Amino acid sequence: MIFTVAIDGPAAAGKGTIGRAVAARFGFAHLDTGLLYRAVGAKGGDPVAAAEGLVPADLERWDLRSLEAGQAASKVAAIPAVRAALVAFQQRFARAEGGAVLDGRDIGTVICPAAEVKLYVTASPEVRAHRRWLEVGGDEARVLAEVLERDARDMGRADAPLRAAEDAVLIDTSAMPVDEAVARAISVVAERMEGL
Ligand code: DC
Repeated sequence: MIFTVAIDGPAAAGKGTIGRAVAARFGFAHLDTGLLYRAVGAKGGDPVAAAEGLVPADLERWDLRSLEAGQAASKVAAIPAVRAALVAFQQRFARAEGGAVLDGRDIGTVICPAAEVKLYVTASPEVRAHRRWLEVGGDEARVLAEVLERDARDMGRADAPLRAAEDAVLIDTSAMPVDEAVARAISVVAERMEGL
């Protein structure tokens, strides 16, 4: 079966948690596409060459979860040639036999506009910053500033800006327990599978 679930939304909205849970529930493969941009940013040097030469082992080579890695990722992600170098890999992953969940910023709009299910997962900046702060620690006000800066860059760039696809189902996790958000996502996918 070929079936793509595209999950987009801003940093720390819950895309990863929902994506992993949906993938586990249906036996689909899962790709956190933010890791691709984080690895390109972490490699240093010419970002276009880094994207063109990206190999799967690069996704495990650095500490890609830090705030700094997120900022570097957001910066290289604004370069059209970097994005172009990563398209084919993501599209192959999305259409591989067995089903796939991809989470990122442009999956439903650019990478997989024909995805069977599109979800847009969001939450208020304060809630997202608080969640990220629980993971990374430090100064919460600084984490909020980083979240806002990344939102502005990811939504404001010319090439593949973050936005909800017109046909995406919106899940706002600001006041929603994680198991409820996961249940919601799973029911959207299950309904679509029944309708095929
Ligand atoms: O999801 P994340 O926080 O790991 O993503 C890190 C950065 O990578 C994000 O700020 C913007 C960029 N990104 C992107 O432009 N397109 C994607 N599909 C995924 C991430």
